[in-house]
Amino acid sequence: MQKRMMITGAGSGLGREIALRWAREGWQLALSDVNDAGLAETLKLVREAGGDGFTQRCDVRDYSQLTALAQACEEKLGGIDVIVNNAGVASGGFFEELSLEDWDWQIAINLMGVVKGCKAFLPLLLRSQGKIVNIASMAALMQGPAMSNYNVAKAGVVALSESLLIELQAQQVGVHVVCPSFFQTNLLDSFRGPTPAMKQAVGKLLESSPISAREIAEYIYTAIEQGEFMILPHEQGRMAWALKQKNPQLLYSEMASMAGKMRSKTTPV
Ligand SMILES: NC(=O)c1ccc[n+]([C@@H]2O[C@H](COP(=O)([O-])OP(=O)(O)OC[C@H]3O[C@@H](n4cnc5c(N)ncnc54)[C@H](O)[C@@H]3O)[C@@H](O)[C@H]2O)c1
Repeated sequence: MQKRMMITGAGSGLGREIALRWAREGWQLALSDVNDAGLAETLKLVREAGGDGFTQRCDVRDYSQLTALAQACEEKLGGIDVIVNNAGVASGGFFEELSLEDWDWQIAINLMGVVKGCKAFLPLLLRSQGKIVNIASMAALMQGPAMSNYNVAKAGVVALSESLLIELQAQQVGVHVVCPSFFQTNLLDSFRGPTPAMKQAVGKLLESSPISAREIAEYIYTAIEQGEFMILPHEQGRMAWALKQKNPQLLYSEMASMAGKMRSKTTPV
C-alpha cells in the first residue's frame, strides 16, 4: 500500500518542500493550510513530482477542523502514516512591547496548533504505528532576543515532542522534532511586531540562511530515515546547540549583547 503523510501549513515554504520531497517517493499527501491558492499550487507540484493526494482547508487553531481532517484521511487514504505539524507564524518585539493578545495569537498557532494536531491524529497513528514530525525552531533552544512569545511557543513544541517520544515509544509511534535556524520562505507575511524596523531585522535574518527550504526538507528526510529525534538542519545551529550545552553562560552573554544591538537598531529615538 502507498504510504500516507498529512502536513499542516502545506501551502507555502517548508510545508510545500516537505510535501514535494515525500511526493518524489510516491507518497499520498493530505495537504492542509488556511491558504487555498497555496494549497492548490502544492498539490499540482506534488502530482508533477510523482505523488498524489488531496487538499483540505484547516486552521490549526480549530480542533474540529483538525478532527475533520483526520476523518478525511481515514475516508480518502484509509489512514495516515506520518503527520507533520508545520503550520506557523512569525513574531517579534521586546517583552515590554508584546501585548497579551500577541502572546495568545502566537501560542494558539505555534504551540496549541501542534498539540491539537497530535491529539486529533493520535488514534490513526496508533493504528498505523506511524510517526509525528513537529516543526519547532532553533528559537526553542537559543531563546534569541526580541521574540519571547515565539521562543516560548517553540520551546513548548520541543517539550511536547520529548514527552510524546517517551510516552508513545511502547506503542511504537515515532516522534521527531525539527529545529531550523532562519531560512527564506513567506514566513515574514505573517509577521506581527511593534515596528517596521523589527520586521526588517527579521527579514534580513531569513535572507541570511546558507540553505534553502528545499535543502532543509532533504535534510529532514534523511534524518528521519536515520531515526534522529532532534533534527537540526543548519550547521551553525548544531554548533550553537553544542556550545550552549557545554557553556550556557557564554551563550547567554552573546544573546544579551545581541539584544543590546537590536534595541539600538529597532527602537525609534
Ligand atoms: N522560515 C524560517 O526562518 C523558520 C525558522 C525556524 C522554524 N520555522 C518554522 O517552519 C514552519 C513553516 O514556516 P515557513 O518558514 O515555511 O513559513 P511560510 O509562511 O512560508 O509557511 C507557513 C504556512 O503556515 C500556514 N499557516 C499560518 N497560520 C496557520 C493556521 N492558523 N492554520 C493553518 N495554517 C497556517 C501559512 O498559511 C503558510 O502557508 C513554521 O512552523 C515556522 O515557525 C521557520
